Amino acid sequence: MNNNKILIIGLLVTAGVAAFLFWPGNSSNNLLSDKTQVTMYKNEGCQCCTRWGSHMMEGEFAVEEVPVPVLMQVKRDNGITPELASCHTALIDGYVVEGHVPRAEVERLLKERPEGVVGLAVPGMPIGSPGMETPGRTPDNYDVLLVKEDGTTSVYASY
Ligand code: CU
Ligand code: CU
Repeated sequence: MNNNKILIIGLLVTAGVAAFLFWPGNSSNNLLSDKTQVTMYKNEGCQCCTRWGSHMMEGEFAVEEVPVPVLMQVKRDNGITPELASCHTALIDGYVVEGHVPRAEVERLLKERPEGVVGLAVPGMPIGSPGMETPGRTPDNYDVLLVKEDGTTSVYASY
């Protein structure tokens, strides 16, 4: 084989690989996406969860909403006790994120990747937290809790 043939074959292979990777609708596009997948379990019809999802998508997150009939079961299965519960439970890159947790704290968690940790929780639905902005009402003060595998919590951030 002469050099020209090798060059042409090389170009064809490169073009083929590029077409495969970038072809619209090819599922391997996911490999090129740097967005972090968020699977959010919620009650059908609850709007504040969707607004929290929009807040996450303003950053580098892709959100899939999954309405479930018994949300409490999802929480129980993922180490979220009734005291920690909010309106939605999200699974993000190996961690559980319960409720209206600000995106910046999720990003910090994924950067720090602490051991022995279930995830983060903002119990209840504080006014003024992401997705719970309420015009005309004074924002609540609230804590973002770090939930550990031993069932204890500590304050991760305060708002
Ligand atoms: Cu909510
Ligand atoms: Cu909601």
